[in-house]
Amino acid sequence: MYRRGRRYSERVVDSEDARADGLLRTPDGSVTAYSARFGEHYSSRHGARTQARHVFVEGSRTHLQGAPRVLEVGFGLGINFRATLADARTRGVPLTYVAFEFDPAPRSVLEAAAEDTNDDVWAAVLASWGAPLTVDHPGVHLDVRVDDVTAALLPAGWATAIYLDGFSPARNPEVWTPAFTERLAGALAPGGVLTTYSAAGDVRRALLAAGLQVTKRAGPPGKREHLVAERPA
Ligand SMILES: C[S@@+](CC[C@H](N)C(=O)[O-])C[C@H]1O[C@@H](n2cnc3c(N)ncnc32)[C@H](O)[C@@H]1O
Repeated sequence: MYRRGRRYSERVVDSEDARADGLLRTPDGSVTAYSARFGEHYSSRHGARTQARHVFVEGSRTHLQGAPRVLEVGFGLGINFRATLADARTRGVPLTYVAFEFDPAPRSVLEAAAEDTNDDVWAAVLASWGAPLTVDHPGVHLDVRVDDVTAALLPAGWATAIYLDGFSPARNPEVWTPAFTERLAGALAPGGVLTTYSAAGDVRRALLAAGLQVTKRAGPPGKREHLVAERPA
């Protein structure tokens, strides 16, 4: 049913023009990759790590939570997970992270994108990569579910944060429909925040229709604005 992408090149290049289907080093030094299946990079070409921290960790106020519970649409290369893990480790707070991913990228790509990460939780992710996985370490619980999130059961009223990061509405409309947005809103705990890099009008209207309080926030490098949506407490 799903189109499979071309194989990934495992050589990191510094220029987007040099290779369209491989790994790309972004201006903040972090690495992203191109998905041939969706025709987009996994994270911002203007700074993958910066986007993860700004849009997802800070946009959802996860960096202020005493015990964040994150639900992610699209684990991808784990860039958002690693940014969230680093934040939780630095602050010494427990982290619970549930991510959906229906097309796991090759382990070698995850490894290359995380060349600067030396973390036992990340090592456990790589060790079991490709299959549904659960990692339980002191202070960190991670579930990666290899499922189509649009057909999955979502935990009701659970998430302090939802990272909606499933490629763009133009390339992957299934994860941006009003019906799915409403289901995501139902997975937020009261006061929980859904954040996405998108600032599209249709996405904003779907979030509003789902009963969330929507705000436009300054975007990361390369993007003027992005959306955050809070479930009223
Ligand atoms: C933009 S990338 C995510 C990047 C990721 N958050 C990171 O930090 O590296 C989008 C990911 O969503 C996944 N995806 C798209 N639609 C999905 C669906 N319906 N169910 C599960 N995963 C999906 C894709 O396979 C892809 O890995």
